[in-house]
Parts: sequence; C-alpha cells; structure tokens
Amino acid sequence: MEFLPLLPQVEQLTQQVGTWLLEQRISPEAIETKSLNNFVTFVDKGAEEQLVAALNSLLPSSGFIAEEGTGSPVKDGYNWIIDPLDGTTNFLHQVPVFCISIALHFQGELLLGVIHDPNRNETFSCAKGHGATCNGNPIHVSTATSLADSLLATGFPYDDFGRQEQYLNLLGHITKNTRGVRRLGSAALDLAYVACGRCDLFYEYALNPWDVAAGILLVQEAGGTVSDFQNEDNALFGKDILASNSGTHQEMLQAIERFFPPALD
Ligand code: IPD
Ligand code: CA
Ligand code: CA
Repeated sequence: MEFLPLLPQVEQLTQQVGTWLLEQRISPEAIETKSLNNFVTFVDKGAEEQLVAALNSLLPSSGFIAEEGTGSPVKDGYNWIIDPLDGTTNFLHQVPVFCISIALHFQGELLLGVIHDPNRNETFSCAKGHGATCNGNPIHVSTATSLADSLLATGFPYDDFGRQEQYLNLLGHITKNTRGVRRLGSAALDLAYVACGRCDLFYEYALNPWDVAAGILLVQEAGGTVSDFQNEDNALFGKDILASNSGTHQEMLQAIERFFPPALD
C-alpha cells in the first residue's frame, strides 16, 4: 500500500481533535483514577473515539493499539498506535503542554508519525524514508557532540518506584554534567523536541508504545538515533527509551550503564 498520501489526512485529523481538546473543561468529579497517579477523563476517551473512527474510515481493516483501549490490533496488518492525549496530568492541571500522538505500524516497522501540539499549533510529522517536518518545514536534530553542550528531556515514572534511587543517581550525574534537564510531562513532545533540535536527548523508562511510537520515527527521520537503555532496537515495545541527536548517544549509554544498569531479575 502507498502510505504517504495518508499523512496529510492524519495531520488534519490531529489538528481537528486538538481543537476539540482545547474546548473541553474538566470538573474534579470527571477525573477517574486508572491506577496510582494515572488519570483518565472523558476527554482522553472522547478524543480516542474520534481518532479511531476517522482512522478506521481512512484505512479500513486496520487495527488499533490505543491507550484507552478503543479498537483492537490486527495480526500482520496495519495498526495505528495512538495516544489521544499525551500529558493528561498537565491537561488536568491546565499546564499547556500536551499533544496527540499517532503512528502507523506495519509488520515490525513504523511507517508514519504525527504529533500535534494544539497549544502552540505545531504539527510534527514524518514518513519512513521521507524525513520529518514541523508545520511543513523540514526539521533536523541538533549538532551537539557532548552531554556538556546538551539540554536533556526526561520523565519520571509515577507508579513504578522500584528503581527510583538508581534513576535519581543518574539524574544527579546528568544535572551536574549537562546544560540542564527538562521534565515537560509529555513523552511524545519530548521526542518531537529532540527531532527539531530544541533538546539534544531524551530518556525515560516505564513507557508504553503509544507514548513513543510517533516520536521514535520522528527522531529517526530527523537524523537522530533511538534505542533502549542497552542500545538495542527495542524502544517501541520495550520499557525504556534513549532518543538522541546521534552525537550524544554513546556518552549517554555509558552514563546509563554506570548509574542505571539493567535490573537483576
Ligand atoms: C505520560 C506522559 C509523561 C510520561 C508518562 C506517560 P499520559 O503519558 O508521556 O511525560 O512521563 O510516563 O505515561 O499518561 O499523559 O498519556
Ligand atoms: Ca502518554
Ligand atoms: Ca494518554
């Protein structure tokens, strides 16, 4: 199938649903707790329903891996990997840093990715082998070659504290040896910011495919490198991710190996 013509339609869809997100108002009673510090509202669910319905008409017989569980995946076929609202905690607290993230996945490969930030009206978009753009303009990762010259983005698990001490040791090392660290609260936007060179590197663990799918392809198509913490090609369905401008990847892998080695099961 020729997947490139789908890209503008997916961009437009995220923009429409992004406008809808900005119109919604949440009362405290509308907030459901899925698990510790993991919240959902009618906004996450409503956005996902709109996205799934539209993508289903765009590509009939495709499957879905969507955070709120709408639709189901198809084996060996096209699957849309969707986070209808990445940055739910920000959204609930009226911090204007959240987005919609959609990727198209087929037989082990990411083909398309779109991340739309309705607050800044920025649509990051990419297709395998065709580069990455923001609002139609080509984007590229930064040229930094050392952590000392880098601004990093990260996130902290909110419900998995088993390895917190080591993770904070890694953060301590990073804060002393880089230009600084940002915790935006949206993994998809963290990845988009690496792709366009605003940040040089992003790392986080305990994530899900919908947090990272579009962002992985975006960073790769913008000239960056994505791996898991062991430098394996397992960031999409694994639990940890290191996405960089390429020039800082090895130095960060060494820091991870020193301060946050794999857990002994
Ligand atoms: C969360 C955000 C956050 C990351 C969390 C994710 P959600 O997604 O991406 O930055 O630290 O691990 O779960 O729940 O807002 O879609
Ligand atoms: Ca998410
Ligand atoms: Ca979400």
